Amino acid sequence: MDHRRVRTPRTTRFLPASDPAAADEAARVLAAGGLVAFPTETVYGLGADAANPDAVAALYAAKGRPAFNPLIAHVADTAQAGRAGRLSLAARALAEAFWPGPLTLVTPYAGGPAVCDLARAGLDTVALRVPAHPVAHRIITAFGGAVVAPSANRSGHVSPTEAEHVRADLDGLIDLIVDAGPTSVGVESTIVDCAGDPPRLLRPGGVPRAAIERVLGHPLPSADASDAHRPAAPGRLASHYAPRAAVRLDVSSVRPGEALLTFHGARPPGAEHAALVLDLSPTGDLVEAAARLYGALRRLDGAGVPAIAVVPLPPEGLGEAIADRLGRAAAPRPEAAAGPAQD
Ligand code: TXA
Ligand code: MG
Repeated sequence: MDHRRVRTPRTTRFLPASDPAAADEAARVLAAGGLVAFPTETVYGLGADAANPDAVAALYAAKGRPAFNPLIAHVADTAQAGRAGRLSLAARALAEAFWPGPLTLVTPYAGGPAVCDLARAGLDTVALRVPAHPVAHRIITAFGGAVVAPSANRSGHVSPTEAEHVRADLDGLIDLIVDAGPTSVGVESTIVDCAGDPPRLLRPGGVPRAAIERVLGHPLPSADASDAHRPAAPGRLASHYAPRAAVRLDVSSVRPGEALLTFHGARPPGAEHAALVLDLSPTGDLVEAAARLYGALRRLDGAGVPAIAVVPLPPEGLGEAIADRLGRAAAPRPEAAAGPAQD
């Protein structure tokens, strides 16, 4: 079904997270089946009651996201996660080490109504995350149940790291935006599939692979998309996080008219003719680069350039997640007529 055609207009309210009533108001809207954008430490999420299929359908419609793409259920703590999913020993060790934080664990679904079939896209597994952002935590706690939340952008667009990005994409399509300023991590959570043995990396993200391997005590293999028995994260289409401008990776020179996205002060030949230059981290800090990535893509794209040239970045630490997102931003797009088909 094409949910993009059935979305209904809504009046979108804006609340600063500093408003003492913000969390309770967000919880009230969620309980009534509404859609609330709220900050997490990674990116802003678009929240709905995980148990309410009507609310989840409205969420897919607002995002224009294909309904077969399952959502992450955000919970307050490991105890709540353990009621929704069956956490293996490895999952518990990772939860202990990284929750609350930018890590999502895929586990067998424990059954019951907590995360409805539509939110799991009919899978017998569930993706669980305990976000570290205090505002997210307050909203989930006030609501009491699990909150499904994809990134709060229209499908195929760059993920929002500021409330203003959410407004630009979803104004008039959702009920409430809770604004707590820019997010700190800036790329989405790392997703680890713990439903089988050994655990596998489904998506690089805010927790570096090496940190997870230290806790597991062994290497963390990447999911193999060709493994029919255990498919990779179903929402991970190649073209994703896409700005309008073309994206050219690992450039050694800049073409006239291009914008330059650079790192650690690098200025490849031609940089002096770039339409605009943004440095993700002049000091060469990959954590800072991750936090600035989506905002930088939006700004360069907003300048109306035909293409964004990106210098090579170091592959270690958060460099893996940054390279993954840039690779998807650079991938060939689905045809414009077909519309965006990613999350
Ligand atoms: O940082 C984040 O994870 C953000 C914030 C808002 O929490 N959320 C986020 O959600 O990035 P979303 O919907 O954009 O990405 C969820 C990913 C998709 O690639 C989806 O396919 C995968 O999680 N996923 C969800 N449930 C799954 C499952 N049961 N098995 C495998 N992959 C799953
Ligand atoms: Mg997303």
